[in-house]
Amino acid sequence: MDLAGKIRLIKDFPKPGINFRDITTLLQDAAAFRQTVDKLSELCRQFEADVVACPEARGFVLGAPLAYAMGKGVVLLRKPGKLPGQTLCHSYDLEYGTDALEVHAGAILPGQKVLLVDDVLATGGTVAAAVELVKKCGGEIAGVAFLIELLGLAGREKLKGLPLITLLQLEA
Ligand code: PRP
Ligand code: MG
Repeated sequence: MDLAGKIRLIKDFPKPGINFRDITTLLQDAAAFRQTVDKLSELCRQFEADVVACPEARGFVLGAPLAYAMGKGVVLLRKPGKLPGQTLCHSYDLEYGTDALEVHAGAILPGQKVLLVDDVLATGGTVAAAVELVKKCGGEIAGVAFLIELLGLAGREKLKGLPLITLLQLEA
């Protein structure tokens, strides 16, 4: 199946000059969604992770079914102020704007091997923050996986030395 063909391109969102890759059109297609999760699961088994972690919000949509398919638990890396317990935090730059991610203290145990999953690798700011959070918890990055890698934004540069898989490579 042409998974890339299921992703809608919306020009000038959220601001002029940004080509937004809209994955909702893939997610709402049962066969495309299943194949996406199955392929990610197949490719990620090599990482031998103990747990899956994913950043809010679109990371949740792939991270939760991927964890389920792999027989792992899922750790939510949330936008600030959403988690009720004690948290660890890391700020980051987005393709457009700035943000931060938080994780519950104790959600990732020291020495645990963590598979990070998100929908899009753009500048790499989000995943770099996720990597820092995992390290603050004492976890190790087993691997990093994305549905889409946007080429030309050098996101991959922020993940040097880490095992990385991306299902689709698209022009930014
Ligand atoms: C988007 C996307 C990735 C990130 C990629 O998330 O889902 O998480 O940007 O960009 P980067 O590599 O430059 O960090 P966004 O924070 O826009 O919001 P959402 O997931 O909550 O929709
Ligand atoms: Mg996101």
